[in-house]
Amino acid sequence: MMQTPVTVVILAAGLGTRMKSRQAKVLHRAGGKALVEHVVDTALRIAPPERIFVVVGYQAGEVRKAVATPGIGFIEQAEQKGTGHAVMIGREALERLRGHLVVFYGDGPLLRAETLRCLIEAQAAADSGGVLLAADMCDPTGYGRVIRDARARAIEVVEEKAATPQQLAIREANMGIYCFQSDLFWKHVDELRPDNPPKEYYLTDMVKILAAAGHPMEALKIADPEEVMGINDRVELARVDRIFRERKVRELMLAGVTIEKPETVTIDADVRIGMDTVVEPFAQILGRTTMGENCRIGACAIVRDSELADQVEIGPFTIVVTSRLERGVQCGPFARLRMQNHLEEGAHIGNFVELKKTRMGAGAKASHLAYLGDSQIGAKVNIGAGTITCNYDGFAKHATKIGDGAFVGSNSTLVAPIEIGEGAYLGAGSVITEPVPADALAIGRARQVVKEEWAKKRRSLGK
Ligand code: UD1
Ligand code: CA
Repeated sequence: MMQTPVTVVILAAGLGTRMKSRQAKVLHRAGGKALVEHVVDTALRIAPPERIFVVVGYQAGEVRKAVATPGIGFIEQAEQKGTGHAVMIGREALERLRGHLVVFYGDGPLLRAETLRCLIEAQAAADSGGVLLAADMCDPTGYGRVIRDARARAIEVVEEKAATPQQLAIREANMGIYCFQSDLFWKHVDELRPDNPPKEYYLTDMVKILAAAGHPMEALKIADPEEVMGINDRVELARVDRIFRERKVRELMLAGVTIEKPETVTIDADVRIGMDTVVEPFAQILGRTTMGENCRIGACAIVRDSELADQVEIGPFTIVVTSRLERGVQCGPFARLRMQNHLEEGAHIGNFVELKKTRMGAGAKASHLAYLGDSQIGAKVNIGAGTITCNYDGFAKHATKIGDGAFVGSNSTLVAPIEIGEGAYLGAGSVITEPVPADALAIGRARQVVKEEWAKKRRSLGK
């Protein structure tokens, strides 16, 4: 059987005044993504990118940028003259795309592709003018009410402001999600008139227009209206964010990840975590992070866009960003892997150690209080407490290289560019400005002076 093609139009031109923001509503984030990214991801599950169109208006450029998938079309609606107008102005691109015309909003990120598929199937089965999604609501205030005929087909949607008292008593509300039959839609769309107080072209008027033309729509009732909840303010944004977080941690727990106090944990949708890994309370695992099995992510740790192999341990209050950690690496507590670090198997980073663009060889250690930037550190190197790489001279960044098995004494200062040979030994407290050959000892500090009896004499002089 030939599948009827699906075209999707996402309305996302409005500012969303109740957000009280300078940013377009669909750019606000929940579940780690902009709202518009969520709805585009959903659309991609029912239609190919070249059949998906986003109607943009307010901050059009930024909204376009937020939609990363190539091939998706944009329709500019400079002036927002209503939900009907938003689709009408896309006529040139849309009319020739026959089949199902699915329309929904950019501010309803919880909408699932399965629900849209039900809508499309209902349209295909009934061969009606279209299908709209409706819900019986305890409080339908603000929504358009669905008017049905004797055969239960939808013949009109009345906006709240225009509704009679009897119509206002109807609890069946229009969710603003539609599947039209494309040919019929474009045949009749010119009949839309802005004959209402805000002088807008209402998409909802298509219901009445199609019914009058002998093609009444079906109204499909959704059991749980939470899924089609549109976000209007930041309280609703937080609620939706929470729902996304709950979905993700649940999915991971069912796949074998232990999550302690899951209600406190933030994990983005694209994160992947292996079996028997343990995530402690208040951890945040973000972006495109992937993680193997048997890892442990400590309380309040933040891991973003990083790759962790099996058995990696991230201690509490540790931050790991765009870094790659091989098997058995241990970091923290209170460590910061700022960006683009690579820790080879079994490397160990302790508390108050900061790393930037640094590679630590297998089994290398920096256990306490250090800054290592732009450094290549060999296998089994020991970095003593308080070691600093001086990688910046006020103009440019310079590299530090330390050979395998070298020992860097505590509180060493390595002035880059600098190279320490394999197996070399740096005395504690050294300022190293010259290269150190392999297996050498380098001491770069003032020699200690001891003055016998000095303190005693001073005391006897009084003050
Ligand atoms: C609309 C429906 C109402 C339904 C409700 C469900 C109409 C006339 N009414 O009302 O029956 O119960 O949705 O939420 O359609 N938009 C544009 N361009 C425009 C106008 C709107 O892109 O010119 C976008 C907005 O950014 C918004 C969405 O469409 O995301 C809905 O518009 P809005 O004005 O909020 O419609 P409602 O009053 O909610
Ligand atoms: Ca709305």
